[in-house]
Amino acid sequence: MPTNTHPQEISMACSTGQNLYRKAKTLIPGGTQLLSKRPEMFLPDQWPAYYLMAKGIEVIDLDGNRYRDMSLMGVGACALGYADPDVDEAVKAAVDNGIMCTLIAPEEVTLAELLCVLHPWAQMVRYAKSGGEAMAMAVRIARAATQREKIAFCGYHGWMDWYLAANLAEEHALDGHLLPGLEPLGVPRGLRGTALPFHYNRFDQLKAIVDRWGHELAAIVMEPQRSNPPMPGFLENVRDLATEIGAVLIFDEITTGFRVATGGIHLLLGVDPDLAVFAKAMANGYPMAAVLGTERVMGAAQTTFISSTNWTERVGLAAAIATIRKYQREPVVAHLAEMGRIVQMGWQKAADQVGLRLRVEGHPSLCHFRFEHTASDKLHTLFTQLMLERGYLASDQFKPSFAHRSNHLAEYLEVTSEVFLILAQALAGDDVNRFLKGPPVQRGFYRLT
Ligand SMILES: Cc1ncc(COP(=O)(O)O)c(C=O)c1O
Repeated sequence: MPTNTHPQEISMACSTGQNLYRKAKTLIPGGTQLLSKRPEMFLPDQWPAYYLMAKGIEVIDLDGNRYRDMSLMGVGACALGYADPDVDEAVKAAVDNGIMCTLIAPEEVTLAELLCVLHPWAQMVRYAKSGGEAMAMAVRIARAATQREKIAFCGYHGWMDWYLAANLAEEHALDGHLLPGLEPLGVPRGLRGTALPFHYNRFDQLKAIVDRWGHELAAIVMEPQRSNPPMPGFLENVRDLATEIGAVLIFDEITTGFRVATGGIHLLLGVDPDLAVFAKAMANGYPMAAVLGTERVMGAAQTTFISSTNWTERVGLAAAIATIRKYQREPVVAHLAEMGRIVQMGWQKAADQVGLRLRVEGHPSLCHFRFEHTASDKLHTLFTQLMLERGYLASDQFKPSFAHRSNHLAEYLEVTSEVFLILAQALAGDDVNRFLKGPPVQRGFYRLT
C-alpha cells in the first residue's frame, strides 16, 4: 500500500511505463482505450503511463515511484478517492456472492429506487456500463419515443455513431470540422444531417435549428452545465422549447453527476429533463451507467431492442449503491467544492505572484486553468514535467476527491508556486524549450500521430 512518503526527484528517463506504452502502441491501436488517458495528453515520452496501485490520492507506477494525483482522479470517476474502502467492501461482498447468474441481481431494483428518490421527476431506470453507451441508449429511447430522427446537441457525448454523425460534412474533405479531432470515418454517411450542434448558452443557435427542423427533432442533448454556468433563463428556455416541439430533453450528467450535487447538477439548476444519464462518479470508477427518465419517455425502451448480458452483472450495481450511500452519508459534495475552491485560488495566487497570466475556470469540483501566453502548450507541458519530478500527477485540470485533504492541497500549492516561478523565469528568458525534456503536450480532440 502507498504510504505518505513523498519523493522529491523522480527521473522518468526510459521508465518502464514508457517502454510498455511503446509496446502497447504496436498491440493496441491508439495505445489505450481512452483518448484522455494517452500519455501524450499529459507529458509525451515522460508520463509514467501505467499504475501498479492507486489508493486514496496516491499512485504507484511500474518503477515503484509514488505520486499524489492532483489531476484527473480516474478521469473524474473516483470522486471518493481511489480504492475507497466502503465501495470496495460492497464490491468484494458482491464478488463473494457471485456477480453473474441466470437469475437477476436484486440490486437492479435497489439502485433504481435510489436514483428515483434522488430525482423525483424520474420514475424509471435502465443500466449500461459506460457513459457513451448509456448516451446511445438514451438517444435510441428518445428516437423510439418520438419516432423522429434528428438530434440537436451541444458538448461532448462519447464515441457513438449518433454523435460522430455531426462530423460528416457535405464533402469528405470537410469531415471533422465541427468537432475537431473526432474522426467520423466508419460512421455511415447516411447519418449526415442527423446530429445538429449548437453552443452552450446560445439559445439563438438552438432556436435556429428548431425553426428549421423542429418537428423532426427527437431530442435536445446537453450537459446542464460544464465550464460556465447557464445564463439566466437559458435552461428554462431550452426546457420550454423541447416541450413545445415534443422533443425529449436529455441531460448528460456523466461528468457533472454526483460531483456537484448528490445526483445530477440539474437538481441545483432547477430544470428537469426527460432523461438524465449518469456514469463515472456514480460508481466511483466501477463500470456502471444509468439512463434515468420519466415513465412516459422510458416506456419507449420497450418498443425498441435494448439489451445486453453484461448490463446485468452485479459489481457495478453494488459499487453504485455503496457510492451513492456514501455521498448521502458524508459531506462529499461540499468537500469537493471546498477542495476545488482552494486549488483555484491557489493557482491564481501563485501565478499572480510571479507575473504569469493564468485563466482559472470551471466549477470548483471540475476546475482547470489555462496559461494566457503564446507558449501556453509548452508552459503547460513544463508544468506537468516539473510537477512530476516533484512527485505529483498534475495537469491543467483538477478533479478533487473526498480523499484530498487540506494538507495535500497546501503542499501541492507550495510546490506549484515553486514551479510557476521556474515557468515565469523560463518565459522571461525566452527559454521554455531548454527546460523541456520531451515534446509538448498534445491537445484534447486533436488527431494523435
Ligand atoms: C459529458 C460526457 N459525456 C459522455 C462521456 C463519455 O463517457 P465514457 O467515456 O464513459 O464513454 C464523457 C466522458 O468523458 C463525458 O464527459
